[in-house]
Amino acid sequence: MWFSQVVKSLFLVVLLGGTLTQVGCFSFNYPEFQNENSSQLIRSKYSYIVMNAIQVTPDLSKDSIENYSGRAFYWKPFRLWSRSKNLTTANFNTTFVLNISPRTTPGGEGLSFILAADATLPQNSEGQWLGIVNASTNGSPEANVVAVEFDTRKSYPEDIDNNHVGLDVNTIYSEPQVSLTNLSVNLSSGSDIKATVQYDGKNMTVYVASKLVFSLPFNLSHYLPEEVFVGFSASTSNNTELNCIRSWEFYGSDIDDGDDDLELLWLWITVSAAVLVLSGIFFYLYWQRKQALFAEDPYPGLEDQIKGSSTAPQKFLLKGLRKATGNFNHKNKLGKGGFGTVYKGLLANKEVAVKRISKNSSQGKQEFIAEVTTIGSLHHKNLVRLIGWCYERRELLLVYEFMPNGSLDKFIFGDEKLGMEEPTLTWEKRHIIIHGVAEALDYLHNGCEKTVLHRDVKASNIMLDSEFNARLGDFGLARTIQQRGKTHHSTIEVAGTPGYMAPETFLISRATVETDVYSFGVLVLEVLCGRKPGNQIELTDYNNSIVHWLWELHSKGRILDAVDSRLNKEFDEEGMSCMLVLALACCHPNPHQRPSMKTVLQVLTGEAPPPLVPTERPAFVWPVMPPSFKGDSGYSFSKSQLSPFTELSGR
Ligand SMILES: *[C@@H]1O[C@H](CO)[C@@H](O)[C@H](O)[C@H]1NC(C)=O
Ligand SMILES: *[C@@H]1O[C@H](CO)[C@@H](O)[C@H](O)[C@H]1NC(C)=O
Ligand SMILES: *[C@@H]1O[C@H](CO)[C@@H](O)[C@H](O)[C@H]1NC(C)=O
Ligand SMILES: *[C@@H]1O[C@H](CO)[C@@H](O)[C@H](O)[C@H]1NC(C)=O
Ligand SMILES: *[C@@H]1O[C@H](CO)[C@@H](O)[C@H](O)[C@H]1NC(C)=O
Ligand SMILES: *[C@@H]1O[C@H](CO)[C@@H](O)[C@H](O)[C@H]1NC(C)=O
Ligand SMILES: *[C@@H]1O[C@H](CO)[C@@H](O)[C@H](O)[C@H]1NC(C)=O
Ligand SMILES: *[C@@H]1O[C@H](CO)[C@@H](O)[C@H](O)[C@H]1NC(C)=O
Ligand SMILES: *[C@@H]1O[C@H](CO)[C@@H](O)[C@H](O)[C@H]1NC(C)=O
Ligand SMILES: *[C@@H]1O[C@H](CO)[C@@H](O)[C@H](O)[C@H]1NC(C)=O
Repeated sequence: MWFSQVVKSLFLVVLLGGTLTQVGCFSFNYPEFQNENSSQLIRSKYSYIVMNAIQVTPDLSKDSIENYSGRAFYWKPFRLWSRSKNLTTANFNTTFVLNISPRTTPGGEGLSFILAADATLPQNSEGQWLGIVNASTNGSPEANVVAVEFDTRKSYPEDIDNNHVGLDVNTIYSEPQVSLTNLSVNLSSGSDIKATVQYDGKNMTVYVASKLVFSLPFNLSHYLPEEVFVGFSASTSNNTELNCIRSWEFYGSDIDDGDDDLELLWLWITVSAAVLVLSGIFFYLYWQRKQALFAEDPYPGLEDQIKGSSTAPQKFLLKGLRKATGNFNHKNKLGKGGFGTVYKGLLANKEVAVKRISKNSSQGKQEFIAEVTTIGSLHHKNLVRLIGWCYERRELLLVYEFMPNGSLDKFIFGDEKLGMEEPTLTWEKRHIIIHGVAEALDYLHNGCEKTVLHRDVKASNIMLDSEFNARLGDFGLARTIQQRGKTHHSTIEVAGTPGYMAPETFLISRATVETDVYSFGVLVLEVLCGRKPGNQIELTDYNNSIVHWLWELHSKGRILDAVDSRLNKEFDEEGMSCMLVLALACCHPNPHQRPSMKTVLQVLTGEAPPPLVPTERPAFVWPVMPPSFKGDSGYSFSKSQLSPFTELSGR
């Protein structure tokens, strides 16, 4: 599980942090010095890089180079030894090329390779002091300095000559000191002289011009702190010279920082604390997620119910549907409704439409199950095919075959949002569409094992395939509207879409085969007239509907005036008025007077004559009278006299 893996790796990091210490080396190499390297050196005031060399004491650009001292160190201190646990000592091996050019005869005073606790140049360290110590620190352990001096002047009696190398420990009085004259080396010759200083932790060895000068047991830890600066110092006096370092390489072991135990401990504590806090946060988030995912499954048992149905289509994984729709990218959005959003997707190279039911949609568990289990068993060329479903992480998703031409409404009413003008559907196309919807409804009402009610037949639920064949979709997705207000029906929830609902819907508060027929009638009127059905939220508004308008025209014998002007009168007048009258018959206020879908189909195919429709719109009477009046049937009518049906959902 990802969570435990994260924790494991975090602890691994802590463990490593606790056991690993730096093992590496401290080294650098300057084959020559360039101005850019200045920043890598800690230099005293008059030390600088000139002519590709460090001039430890001033060069000739100054008026006088008398009585100067100078120091130049590498910027980073070198760890010489470590007090911790086992005492360890570093070793180093450094080689440099020095050049001393006397400006007086003899020149003076000298240059030194120096290891110092303090990088700052001591005051008054010119002359004989070589920038190593001054009169007051000379010989004092507080000087904390060890130097290999290259002395060019015998400035006091202890100096053996004016051309020697010596080891200076906190003092300018060297022990030992070796004359270079016997090695045929002249420090004051003005030529480049290579010198090497090696320290292996036990012996200090110095070579000049590749000749051994001295090698002696020496313990730097005795005299120096754990960290020192490495570099050069030099001085002039009345006798002057240029003290240059032309190149410098340094290889030092970088010893265990173990003595920083406290520091490490603090580091370890800090890291551990951070890990603990992070783990805490991770765990909290994980816990929250788990809670959100499993604790409050809003639709418990949904999956079992669907799987229990033998006709359920394929179940998809949320991951797969996310991938198919580009993580529900808005670019793939096909449409949006009260139920949620429909996205175009690509599953196994096949275009699909994925409906993502919004979490606050009124479509609940029952509708979802109804849609999945009912449509899964339906197969008709005029029905949108449901390919699969998904219920994961509180997401309800339905996968349909993709309809390239979208829904019918935008062809009849135009897409208001986009202001797009779809091509006008010809009379023939409209006829085919209406015929297709009629076939689909007939199949639902009469063709399947059980009668299925669609309950929400409307233009936006009719999809058009690539050949403009109608495909009825959106099963069980009826939007519910709450009837609020005056009437005693105020608490009844009615499914359907205003304008498409038969007048009795509000009274019986349930769908019937006849209410589907009514919706179909409204749809046909819309398709033929290119008009919206009008508002019909309340019974009184019913008068404003397209049905009322049509009946008015019908009573005046001018029913063809209603036909969509965009058709330019290019239609078969007889067929058109037949279909309009058929639609009016479907919208008869008395449900018993409406034709069945079977009859509708027969009229559409010319097998039966159009039904007779009264010229005056009959009043809506309640309770409705069955065609053959057999006395007041009261409330039993809905069971005994209306067509038997199976409700689609559990309502
Ligand atoms: C010194 O400076 C030069 C030029 O910027 C640079 O290439 C070189 O790497 C530097 N030397 C060191 C040891 O950093
Ligand atoms: C250099 O120091 C010596 C001795 O302290 C002194 O006599 C001499 O005047 C100084 N020279 C300069 C230029 O300051
Ligand atoms: C420390 O030194 C002792 C003896 O010199 C040795 O036995 C031990 O292994 C050393 N420990 C470490 C951590 O180097
Ligand atoms: C010191 O450095 C030089 C030059 O890199 C190398 O030849 C020599 O072997 C080194 N000596 C030691 C003891 O590391
Ligand atoms: C020697 O140098 C130290 C540190 O720079 C300084 O405090 C001290 O006064 C100097 N002594 C003399 C005699 O100049
Ligand atoms: C230098 O060599 C000479 C003889 O060649 C000898 O007398 C003198 O002591 C040597 N000096 C040193 C400092 O070793
Ligand atoms: C070293 O060289 C300088 C300059 O060439 C010269 O004046 C001096 O005498 C030489 N010293 C020795 C000891 O040879
Ligand atoms: C260190 O010095 C001692 C004593 O002079 C000598 O015996 C030993 O060989 C030297 N070791 C090295 C590595 O130079
Ligand atoms: C160097 O000196 C320290 C004490 O200052 C001592 O513990 C260490 O063993 C010495 N190292 C050698 C190689 O003698
Ligand atoms: C340095 O030179 C000046 C004269 O220029 C002289 O008075 C002084 O004594 C000299 N100092 C030393 C230490 O040689």
